Amino acid sequence: MDKITAVKGMEDIFYPDIRVWHYIENMIREQMRIFGYTEIRTPILEKTELFVRGVGNTTDIVKKEMYTFNDKGERSMTMRPEGTAGVVRSVVEHNMTGAGAPFLKFYYFGQMYRYERPQKGRLRQFNQFGVECFGTDSPYVDAEVIQILYLLLKKLGLSDLDVKLNSIGCPECRPIFREKAIAYLSARKESLCAECRERLEINPLRVYDCKVPSCAAAVSGAPFMVDNLCSGCADHFGKVVAALGDVGIPYTLTKTLVRGLDYYTRTAFEVTSKHLGAQDALGGGGRYDNLVDELGGPKTSAVGFAMGIERIIIAIKSQNIKLELEKPPDVYIIPLSAGEFDYSFKLLWDLRLEGIGAQMAVAEKKAGSHFKDADKLGARFAVVIGSDEVTSENLTVKDLTAHSQEKISSGNIVSYLKSKAAGSN
Ligand code: HAM
Repeated sequence: MDKITAVKGMEDIFYPDIRVWHYIENMIREQMRIFGYTEIRTPILEKTELFVRGVGNTTDIVKKEMYTFNDKGERSMTMRPEGTAGVVRSVVEHNMTGAGAPFLKFYYFGQMYRYERPQKGRLRQFNQFGVECFGTDSPYVDAEVIQILYLLLKKLGLSDLDVKLNSIGCPECRPIFREKAIAYLSARKESLCAECRERLEINPLRVYDCKVPSCAAAVSGAPFMVDNLCSGCADHFGKVVAALGDVGIPYTLTKTLVRGLDYYTRTAFEVTSKHLGAQDALGGGGRYDNLVDELGGPKTSAVGFAMGIERIIIAIKSQNIKLELEKPPDVYIIPLSAGEFDYSFKLLWDLRLEGIGAQMAVAEKKAGSHFKDADKLGARFAVVIGSDEVTSENLTVKDLTAHSQEKISSGNIVSYLKSKAAGSN
């Protein structure tokens, strides 16, 4: 029979790689506690309209990349392509913002779905970690979320990071700039790629981050949004930049950075790594002061970011970073024949109840083959149980790293293993 494979662009994650995921998740959860963020879990499936209105119907994500289908009730549903819209929906639905509401700081982990052409670092199902803050337009919060993104990547040992920073204005200054950009770029329409020619009228800012060389050349002399901000946006951006400077977060002012989602206002940022290929963004985000009311809530300022876990793992591997991963079981119990299974199974239970990581061989094999299995598991000790051991209650404990062995009475085995395990830390 033909075997059924996973869907293209979607990956299984399991041992030993899963340990890297756990390491990242645990480290992030601890940092979220320190920074005062709480977790939010929203559904993977949302009404399509949420993303059309939230992410924007001129974006590549909404136009080309969504997994959209009708459910059995003929309602259009979409597998979330990103996390922000769902979090905003939830915040609005549960009346969490508005006058008198506390400053909200959420974080999430989750699978996202985009029908993109799979390549290294670009999947159709991928995992994001993200944060979203609601209820203030303080530039310190923009600086805080950038600080978090940078800190998390640093804590994973990543180097050669570039924090790209820009401001893309607000509904007051962007329309004025838009006309300027259209005028400048229209005069150079011939050098733009087909897609950018189309974008020119709909979303001229997207032309700025097009990777096609002729588009980049056309843009190089163009006016930039960040140089045309209204006084409110300029003041805000100046304060973000100053706050980042105060805490020593390095950044590169990147005037062409616009981001691929329509909800951003003011601050936009991305962190890239030199250790990735073409898909070099480890994370990105920005301020979105209008999305809450566009999705039916009260006017509420917001800012956040998301980072791609798969890309972070690629960067960790390509930089050859050694993380301190979950420990393998401490003990592998080896019954030498079926006659010792019952005794071994009871010992296994006793060790586990005492918090000692233990596994037991459940097939009859030659001793040498059992030791190979213990090695594969990475166990530190093997407890060998033959008929002599059962009768004498004196168990043979082999230290698999020191290559030594001792006889330990069954009454002392727990304290012996605990003291040895503690000593190895
Ligand atoms: P985004 O830039 O579209 O932003 O995605 C954030 C990160 O998700 C990217 O930097 C990348 O690491 C990862 N990512 C995106 N697409 C893929 C893919 N196809 N395969 C693998 N990884 C991918 C957002 O999603 C916004 N919601 C971020 C945000 C939160 N802005 C404000 N709050």
